[in-house]
Amino acid sequence: MTSTPDLPTSAPVDPAALPRSRVFSGVQPSGLPHVGNYLGAFRSYIAMQEHHDAIYCIVDYHALTSTHDGELIRRNTHEMALGLLALGLDPERAVLFRQSDRPEHTELAWLLSTVVPVAWVERTPSFKEKRRNQPQDINHGLLTYPVLQAADIAIYHAKYVPVGKDQAAHLELAREIVRAWNARYGDYFVEPAAVFSDAPIVKGTDGVNKMSKSLGNVIDIFAEPEMIRRQVMSMVTDTQRILRTDPGRPEVCNVCQLHRFFSPTEYESIWEGERSARTGCVDTKRLLADRIIAYFAEARERRRELAARPGFVEEVLQAGAARLAPLARETMAVCHDRMGLGPVPR
Ligand code: AMP
Ligand code: TRP
Repeated sequence: MTSTPDLPTSAPVDPAALPRSRVFSGVQPSGLPHVGNYLGAFRSYIAMQEHHDAIYCIVDYHALTSTHDGELIRRNTHEMALGLLALGLDPERAVLFRQSDRPEHTELAWLLSTVVPVAWVERTPSFKEKRRNQPQDINHGLLTYPVLQAADIAIYHAKYVPVGKDQAAHLELAREIVRAWNARYGDYFVEPAAVFSDAPIVKGTDGVNKMSKSLGNVIDIFAEPEMIRRQVMSMVTDTQRILRTDPGRPEVCNVCQLHRFFSPTEYESIWEGERSARTGCVDTKRLLADRIIAYFAEARERRRELAARPGFVEEVLQAGAARLAPLARETMAVCHDRMGLGPVPR
């Protein structure tokens, strides 16, 4: 079954307004979740578990393309799962699992790769970026990364994929890959659509780049409050506001932008204070730090509770993978059948 989702892939979407469907998303085990992950993606994961058949995955196979420190991957996988559960991902409603516990993903990636022209993956922006950023380790996995991502989604026939805007090119490619396979072997896979939140690209504390662990410009969710305060106070604001008496421009100030989400009933008056130079950047940052610390206080407490339950995270991940086994096996059986693998049917 193929469906072309009637969704724009660029506009923010109210997850609750979409017809009930299968949802899939993946996150790299890159350590502690940050505010960019939350506003761009995790909020949608949690919102979508209410109305959809949601599957979320910690993509440890993908992580191997950027680090070969096994101990770190294992620890970060656990940490990311713990963070998602603390933020409200409910294992009773959504499936949470570790990618390497369902090795069918890698097999499907291989099968899909045979219909993917090399040029498609060579021109992927993330590949070009990684080639620049890790010139000492341009491994083959980096090239095939988006094919594995397409397999993650396709194996469960997911239609909606909540992600940040940085994943837009990967999602476009996933659609093309699925289309290429369907054209060759007959309609089967669903063409997935990205679902973006109203904060599709959150900028980091440098005020310029996307918030990202690897750039060291993050505001952590689960760090100690003092650390969060330090991170927020280090934020670059409107660079044209030099004197305290200069009017601020909330539209370009990242601190003001984050107030939209963390001070939703008040941000307009905060913006007005900046525009009229009634308030200074330091006050606005202090308030933002208080708001972010308060916003995640409950999640931080819950993380502490869950961390104290030995084996809990591991149980959730393994139960998640077990629940997906029939679906993954069914997809692989259909692929084997259509692609000519295995014995001659009797
Ligand atoms: P990653 O840690 O790169 O696997 O990201 C997990 C999810 O968070 C993906 O859907 C990303 O698109 C999203 N994400 C990461 N950083 C940001 C950001 N700065 N702004 C918006 N979304 C983000
Ligand atoms: N590439 C995504 C990222 O870096 C992670 C990912 C892997 C993913 N497989 C996926 C996201 C499938 C959505 C769907 O964030």
